[in-house]
Amino acid sequence: MDKIIIKGGKKLSGEVEISGSKNSSLPILFASLLTDEPCEIKNVPSLADVDTTINFLNFIGKKTIKTGNTVNTFVSKKYKHVAPYDLVRKMRASVLVMGTLLARLKRVDVSLPGGCSIGARPINIHLEAFRKMQVKISVDEGYVKLSADKRLKGANIKLHFASVGATENILLAAVLAEGKTVINNAACEPEIVDLSNFLNKMGAKISGSGSKRIVVIGVKKLSGTSHEVIPDRIEAATYIISAAITKGEIVLKNAAAVHIKTVIEKLKKSGLLIKEMKNSIYVKWVKNLKPQNIKTAVYPGFPTDVQAQWMALQCLLKGSAVIEENVFENRFMHVLELQRLGANLTIDGKKVYVKGVNKLSGAPVMVSDLRAGAALVLAGLAADEKTTISRIYHLDRGYDMLEKKLRKLGADIKRVHA
Ligand code: EPZ
Repeated sequence: MDKIIIKGGKKLSGEVEISGSKNSSLPILFASLLTDEPCEIKNVPSLADVDTTINFLNFIGKKTIKTGNTVNTFVSKKYKHVAPYDLVRKMRASVLVMGTLLARLKRVDVSLPGGCSIGARPINIHLEAFRKMQVKISVDEGYVKLSADKRLKGANIKLHFASVGATENILLAAVLAEGKTVINNAACEPEIVDLSNFLNKMGAKISGSGSKRIVVIGVKKLSGTSHEVIPDRIEAATYIISAAITKGEIVLKNAAAVHIKTVIEKLKKSGLLIKEMKNSIYVKWVKNLKPQNIKTAVYPGFPTDVQAQWMALQCLLKGSAVIEENVFENRFMHVLELQRLGANLTIDGKKVYVKGVNKLSGAPVMVSDLRAGAALVLAGLAADEKTTISRIYHLDRGYDMLEKKLRKLGADIKRVHA
């Protein structure tokens, strides 16, 4: 299995290109199932999860090809209605196939997604919403079987938690449903807005995306379209923190600062110099940063997907910080690995207490999930000596050309095929 080896201590400097958003690309790719006409989706990152989704679409019956960062989908033959375990277990976002196939076929059997290392990740919110749209649901032999006797009916839905995936799944089902659907307490993430923009270009009638209340008027048919995916805000936040933790100076190109305001404000408060331009972000370490407490929350709160990277930075700041994780029930897998590098961290329920240390020392560490992996890379960039990171296939799911981009910024980082 491949490993990443980092020799820490190099200040990062230069320019980094931010890729298209993973968490926007995946639902948009699934949304292409809603039309038989060709779609063109640009600025799609080269990631394992994108490849998994493309394989999934081809398996279902939607011919899909990626050339560079552009994905083209073509006229489909008859869709399969089953999403097998070996596809769903690889990527939780596979559950988004439910909304699309219910809309197109009025039936879908999806293998239960299973947990992952950041929690059980149930789909009860998705299923409660589909029931309201007159979908019958049963669980049999590890599969969730959903079906409707006729065209789905729009419904008034209230999410007890502003789930991103559930909001996306409901949108994918509602755009072709009969009548009006209202989603109350909807997720407001930029990825929801990007998906809605794509669907509206296809002829859907969605309003209110980006707010807590989204209204969809169902239509009979959707057409093909062309769309450019928004930049990846979590990748951008990760690179900004890479400049902070190595005391460097970098420019992020094709980055949308507006999507990570909460992270940028916290870093400015910490003492990092950040200048936001229209499509780029300038970052410079100018003085010792002050630790900052965070509490993760749904958008526009501090993103849970930046919590691990934030923790890596706080480990090396003089003073202490409290990090509270409120979105996932088990998103502290990176704590044990950061401790192996010398971090002073104490877990207490959903909080981690960080006491800054003067230095981190390189060591062999293991990635448990995508963003935990990002935290270990960031810590390795700042640690003395050598850090060897294994199970980096988690990183390949969400970071496009990670080592290449970091090497270009001056990091001493390489991938070895063990
Ligand atoms: C999306 O996951 C993202 N993934 C995650 O990013 C991100 O961390 C998460 O949203 C929160 O922002 C993609 O977009 C592909 P949720 P999703 O449904 O949709 C609970 C990354 O690193 N919940 O908003 O799965 C759930 O257990 C990934 O790029 C239910 O209880 O997140 C979790 O505790 C990691 N029942 C919380 O809600 C449900 O039916 C948030 O989940 C659904 C969710």
